[in-house]
Amino acid sequence: MIPSLKSYTTSPATSVRRAALTALVIAAAPVLHFQAAGAQAARAQTTTVASPDGRNVVALTLSDGRLTWSATRDRQPVVTPSRLGFTFRNAPALETGLRVSDSARSSADETFTLPWGEVAHVRDQHNELRVRVTETAAPQREFWVVVRVFDDGLGFRYELPDQPNLKDFEIMDELTEFAMAEDMKAWWIPANVPTNDRQEMLYSESPISKLTLVHTPLTLVGTGGLHAVIHEANLVDYASMYLAGRSESRTVRVSLTRWKDGSAVKGRTPFVTPWRTMQLADSPEQLVPSVLTLKLNPPSRLANTSWVRPMKYDGIWWGMHLNVMSWSSGARHGATTENATRYIDFAAANGLGGTLVEGWNTGWDGNWLVTGGSFSFTKAYADYDLAAVAKHAAEKGVGLIVHNETATFVDNYERQLDSAFTLYEKLGVHAIKTGYVGDTVNPGGHDHYGQYMVRHHRRVIETAAKHGIAVVMHEPIKDTGERRTWPNMLSREGARGQEYNAWGGEGGNPPEHETILFFTRLLAGPMDFTPGIFNLLLTKSETNKARTPYEARPRTTLAKQLALYVVLYSPVEMAADLIENYANQPGFQFIRDVAVDWDTTRVLHGRIGDDVVVARKTKGKDEWFIGAITDEQARTIEVSLDFLPKGARYVADIYADGKGAHWRDNPLALAITHMPVSSSTKMRIAMAPGGGQAVRIRRVP
Ligand code: NOJ
Ligand code: CA
Repeated sequence: MIPSLKSYTTSPATSVRRAALTALVIAAAPVLHFQAAGAQAARAQTTTVASPDGRNVVALTLSDGRLTWSATRDRQPVVTPSRLGFTFRNAPALETGLRVSDSARSSADETFTLPWGEVAHVRDQHNELRVRVTETAAPQREFWVVVRVFDDGLGFRYELPDQPNLKDFEIMDELTEFAMAEDMKAWWIPANVPTNDRQEMLYSESPISKLTLVHTPLTLVGTGGLHAVIHEANLVDYASMYLAGRSESRTVRVSLTRWKDGSAVKGRTPFVTPWRTMQLADSPEQLVPSVLTLKLNPPSRLANTSWVRPMKYDGIWWGMHLNVMSWSSGARHGATTENATRYIDFAAANGLGGTLVEGWNTGWDGNWLVTGGSFSFTKAYADYDLAAVAKHAAEKGVGLIVHNETATFVDNYERQLDSAFTLYEKLGVHAIKTGYVGDTVNPGGHDHYGQYMVRHHRRVIETAAKHGIAVVMHEPIKDTGERRTWPNMLSREGARGQEYNAWGGEGGNPPEHETILFFTRLLAGPMDFTPGIFNLLLTKSETNKARTPYEARPRTTLAKQLALYVVLYSPVEMAADLIENYANQPGFQFIRDVAVDWDTTRVLHGRIGDDVVVARKTKGKDEWFIGAITDEQARTIEVSLDFLPKGARYVADIYADGKGAHWRDNPLALAITHMPVSSSTKMRIAMAPGGGQAVRIRRVP
């Protein structure tokens, strides 16, 4: 239990008065306590801050010279007193011998508008507590812990002010812990896997006490229904955070990936760390839309975002993953002027906003994982006329998405950033897709998720912004809410996407996969999953690894491929299949119709690993979409359409699993029906094994 917990219910009107009060408690009382002898001196000194609704309370406690944090929800412990502090290279740890030297409080309630998103507006309503602690003995260094508590969770970070005895520093370890009160069930992917750490592993579930080293977001489920998600926000100049478990313990601690010289973070005061965040909810449905990290990032730096366009796109891409086209030059080269023109024309004819072309630039021949240092980001293969393709795209009103695979030869990319982005800008290109396939970063062997790469990704985002270019990142640093500050940071991979279904075999995604992604990876931010595969009858000859025909198939029905456009939020959604596979397909109408920018999002039903039903309202339009997906089980879920305005009449265009549909032997059975609906309609959503349902709800004129 947390000692002497003070739970405040906050209203802005009382916050000023309370600020004065707490400053007193914390600044004056400690002096008395520490002056007192014997048992009195060891007494813990606690101050708390509550969410606006009063349910979530964070306590900072100074006891025996150490500062800890803890959290409750509805007065029940969620996080028990947990360690805070740092160890440094060539300097003593900053953790013990501390006294509270200052504190302050504030409250905020502001609503900001996103230029694009799964919601249009975000209300940032929180109470903040700042506590400064100072070492009682030399070198008398100090830091602030800043806590913000929201109705949907909490965030805290360290601020290291400029001070005489802490200038340049190297953090060896951040000591922050999350000592969960219960051995909650965790949904996790492993971190630091030597052979493939692109966050592209399948998820596992196990109690916290069984975790070793995992990525965030880490989604935790308690026996009483509590849902908690540990992640981070505003990762600017720091190492990305993993969470390390301790055998048979409910505690996970921050684990930072290191530079080659062994340190984790190099910096100079004044310095702030990323926010350590925890979403808190009573049900899985309440975890989405997840905007906590956006509230903990600075406002947009882009005055004009008109060139940042949410869009659907097609592309020269799936063919390479199926091995029927190649990135490299030669007879199967995908990125020819002719092919690109075909894909652009298809996009224009079907209302898709963009076309991605991969394999256009020189450097793909041979084993590009080894020779990636010779990729050019300006020079095209002889059969691809970049300027002509860009011109054609512009004439057709289609945005060309230029591909920049670095193969983690980051210095090669950085050397070309300015010249490449200057060229793209000149050609009217407003979006790129970057890629970082490779285990360590070249040269220098930097870690994929270390401070070096965090800095690199920021540099790419900011340089791109200067040239009016938006970024879709593959093998990225995880999303920590950058899109609020840099709305040109559109979408990321950073999870196992559709590409694994092209490769077949045991590598294909199991039917439950996307029902887990929705409650884990997608809580960080948008994902470029690339849905829309219509030729689901892939056979062995078309794929690389499959041993049986069934193994070669994506384990979803066609209706589920459509539903993923609504379920897996991204401002860019690919129509990923070869365009010839969309010919004469009634189901393609859904891809033409579906929106990519939303006013609101409502999760109607969801169980992690089982199913999801989500409704989203099209930005600025009286139109809704519903996406429903299931795992390997057939399921029927009834949902109420009471989110529609009362009295208005709508028609639902329903793309459902057809009779006898099954991902394994009948994935293409699709039943398209239309029915009148209103706010009083109860919809029965029936899904096949590996199936789903996609619905467009449009206003009757
Ligand atoms: C991996 C990316 O996820 C994929 O989309 C891309 O086609 C390949 N790398 C090649 O860059
Ligand atoms: Ca990938």
